[in-house]
Amino acid sequence: LASVEVDLSPVEVGQAITVVWRGKPVFVRHRTEKDIEQARAVDPATLPDPATDDERAIHKPEWLVMIGICTHLGCVPKGQKPSDPKGDYNGWFCVCHGSHYDTAGRIRKGPAPLNLPVPEYAFLDDTTIQIG
Ligand code: FES
Repeated sequence: LASVEVDLSPVEVGQAITVVWRGKPVFVRHRTEKDIEQARAVDPATLPDPATDDERAIHKPEWLVMIGICTHLGCVPKGQKPSDPKGDYNGWFCVCHGSHYDTAGRIRKGPAPLNLPVPEYAFLDDTTIQIG
């Protein structure tokens, strides 16, 4: 499918879901206030792949949507399930070679060169997004 619609209404604050779009995992996280505060507290200029939180959560601060493929060598980072390791920055952790992503999906530590990519998506209504 070229695009996929996702109903966000069952996804509680602090939860995340993974959907498949064009054969790739897409991470959708309903961020907490703390997640957002942590992401905004960082000076983007100090990051390996500089981006503000607004450039990451492009439509609404509480919703982060990203392609869940590590930018190092393509593993799927952990961090979607409550029991998953989330790395040193409370986001995602790629166990393959130890890349740590923050609560905005930005690379903070480890061999991955770039942030997790944000796909093109839009809100169709308050609780539905269309990816692609
Ligand atoms: Fe993720 Fe290497 S593939 S750290």
